[in-house]
Amino acid sequence: MEDTKEIYANFKEQVRREADIVRIISEYVPLKKKGGRYWGCCPFHGEKTPSFTVDEGKGLFHCFGCGAGGDVFSFIMKQENLSFVDALKFLANKFNIPIPEKEKNAAEIARELEAKEVYTANQWAAKFFHSCLLNTNYGKKGLAYLQNRGIGREIITKFDLGLAPEGFDKLYKGLLGKGVQEATIVKAGLANRNDKGGIYDKFRARIMIPIKNPRGKVVGFTGRILDKNSSPAKYMNTGDTPWFHKGNLLFGLDAALASIRKHKQVVVVEGHMDAISLHAAGIDWAVASMGTAFTEHQAAILRRLVPEVVFSFDSDAAGKNAAMRAIPLAKQAGLKCKVMHVPEGKDPDDFVRKQGPKAFVELIEHALPGVDYEINTVLVSHDLNSLSGKVEAVDQVIPFIASCESEVEIGERLRDLARTLAIDEGLIQSEYRKLTGRNRREVTPVVPVKAKQQVGGSGEQAERLILYGILVGEPLEAQKDLVQKSLFTGPRQEIFDKLVAKHGLETKIDARDLFPEMTDAGAGELTSILELDVADNNLPQMLEDCFKQLRLEGLQKEFQYHSQQAELFEKTDNAKFMQELAECQRIRKIMAEYTTNKNSF
Ligand code: GTP
Ligand code: MN
Repeated sequence: MEDTKEIYANFKEQVRREADIVRIISEYVPLKKKGGRYWGCCPFHGEKTPSFTVDEGKGLFHCFGCGAGGDVFSFIMKQENLSFVDALKFLANKFNIPIPEKEKNAAEIARELEAKEVYTANQWAAKFFHSCLLNTNYGKKGLAYLQNRGIGREIITKFDLGLAPEGFDKLYKGLLGKGVQEATIVKAGLANRNDKGGIYDKFRARIMIPIKNPRGKVVGFTGRILDKNSSPAKYMNTGDTPWFHKGNLLFGLDAALASIRKHKQVVVVEGHMDAISLHAAGIDWAVASMGTAFTEHQAAILRRLVPEVVFSFDSDAAGKNAAMRAIPLAKQAGLKCKVMHVPEGKDPDDFVRKQGPKAFVELIEHALPGVDYEINTVLVSHDLNSLSGKVEAVDQVIPFIASCESEVEIGERLRDLARTLAIDEGLIQSEYRKLTGRNRREVTPVVPVKAKQQVGGSGEQAERLILYGILVGEPLEAQKDLVQKSLFTGPRQEIFDKLVAKHGLETKIDARDLFPEMTDAGAGELTSILELDVADNNLPQMLEDCFKQLRLEGLQKEFQYHSQQAELFEKTDNAKFMQELAECQRIRKIMAEYTTNKNSF
């Protein structure tokens, strides 16, 4: 076991050594050398003046425009839409580095063979359906149906749409003729055996929509009936096979890929026909969730490609519930998310055909950020004129607000909530503290101007330097207890988390190994950190200053919070006033010690 691990690690290092990042990226983006770095136009967002740079020495790329960053492997993963392992193989092949063969056991070999056969069967089936639609007499009915729905030749070709003929074994016989085994046809879910041992095609008299994985390989089908009365099921999917789980796939992703990258956004709809119709209208960065509830797995796939998802679900209760369930999944995966509904109970397909693409794009542009959607949903479902309604609404809204990343945003939203409900802001603040149990350093600063000044300020830089110290293996003996998640904010928290999860803090690692698991924001931030140029002999002192600064900032926030509380209690003649005041004095004393005594750790 240990052996294979080591062989793999060595292989990866060899690829990293030999896959020259400048040469690789130059194949996609023209680069020019300027001041020790290479510059070009970022392939991940549209731009005309170069803000994309490659650091050959450190093996990193970084875009100052969109924040994308990473190493040679993450570049290929993004650019070619590959998993880490496939990006590794891609580069190995390019540089003729032999890929170490894992010893396969008989079961693995059999499984691979089986998968290959099923893929081949699906590939042939897609061809069969497509040609049936375009080249047969029966196909005319299908073409007319699609035409009627505004779907022309171009889109038929783009999605390889097809038609399953009437009859019971046309596909089956066609596949046998191509040398596909009967067992494989059944395994792929393309035909079923009945009780009497007879075999019949699963899909009959349906418009056939091939479902492809992101690399464009057909893994299954969805079929829509042509005639309302021919079957009780309007839609039918390939049954669950090892290669086809609805919740692991997004329909249209392969076709939408380039546009998704360009728009830095993906629109997720529920229905296959919605996605097809949007593409036909030129909104080609849309995919469909395969008619299932949006899943964690789907979120993870999208997160690798794009920073933002816009959910466009039906405007009925089911669609609204679907949105409320999808938002947290997207957020947890590290995706920014927004929600829009097409008006008047229509679906996106109806809407875009009647109102046109411009109207739909406008809806996208006005989509509500996920947290606003969540908050609104709570607010409109409570009677905000009654006390109990307000109390319940606050209870339900605060967890949504607490999930925001930025402290500034949390502060603003708490203030908004107080205003909307006509409740004292201080009370909302303490409710927030009670419900979230956030530790003090994270308490929302109550003075808005101060809070705003902290964005991008020195606190973040101090966090960066501390992470840098950890990553280069600087011993942090004295500050060991201070190094914990709550020390960090924003994407730096993610870096710390992943670092601890993967390696612990004791072993020194190649920090670039963290890239494959990072969200885009995390990868960009990690790149900035690795690009810091810090002289080794300065590092210990700098780190000490950083810890001190963060501790002081934390104390300052605590102080602000307690003095605000004291003021509040004084107004309401609450006895807790004295308690808060004492707390303020205690904090001020610690702060004074910090500023006078240099070695306070
Ligand atoms: P059209 O009627 O063709 O416009 O489709 P639609 O997208 O408007 O249909 P609907 O809103 O009813 O369904 C949305 C999605 O749910 C579809 O794309 C399917 O994935 C799924 N779906 C709908 N009906 C069925 C069904 O009978 N069986 C299965 N398995 N899925 C269905
Ligand atoms: Mn529809």
